[in-house]
Amino acid sequence: MAEERTLIIIKPDGVQRHLTGEIITRFEKKGFKLVAAKFMQIPESLAHQHYGVHKGKPFFEGVVKYLSSSPSMVMVWQAKGVIAMARKLMGATFGYEAEAGTIRGDFSCSRGYNLIHGSDSQESAEFEIGLYFKPEEIAKYELSDECWLYGQND
Ligand code: RTP
Ligand code: MG
Repeated sequence: MAEERTLIIIKPDGVQRHLTGEIITRFEKKGFKLVAAKFMQIPESLAHQHYGVHKGKPFFEGVVKYLSSSPSMVMVWQAKGVIAMARKLMGATFGYEAEAGTIRGDFSCSRGYNLIHGSDSQESAEFEIGLYFKPEEIAKYELSDECWLYGQND
C-alpha cells in the first residue's frame, strides 16, 4: 500500500472542549506520522473553499460559520492508507450515529458539531492540503520506530 497524506482538522468545538490532545493522541498511537500542523482561526473565505463541494446544500452556510467561528488545529498526517484509516478513527459524520470507540462516537452527540474533519479521498486530500500548507511546510522525516509499524510483507 502506498504512503498517503490526509488533512485533519480539529474543529472549533474540539479545541474549545479541550479535546485537542486526546484526538492527536489517537492518531499518534495508531502509528500515523505528523508532518504539518498549524493552529489558526480559519477565515470564512477559506472555509468556503474548503467545503466548496457542499455549496448549495442546506447546511453549507452553517458549516462555513462553524469552521471559522474559533481557532482550529489543522494538521497533515502521513501513513500507508491513512485517508481511509483516519475516517474510521473519526467515525460517522453525525456524532449521535457514530460508533462508540470512534472520536465522534465517543465525544460528540451533535449533528453538525462533530469535532473533526478528515479528507475523504486522495483527490480531496491533495486539494485540502494545498489550501492550508505550502509544499515546504510539509516535513519529510523518518519515524525511529517505523520498522515496527509495518510488517515485512506490507
Ligand atoms: P468532514 O468533511 O468535516 O470530515 O465531515 P464528513 O465528510 O463526515 O461530512 P460531510 O458530508 O463532508 O459534511 C461536512 C460537514 O458539514 C456538517 N454537516 N452538517 N446539519 C447537517 O445536516 C450537516 N451535514 C453535514 C458537519 O460538520 C460535517 O462534518
Ligand atoms: Mg467531508
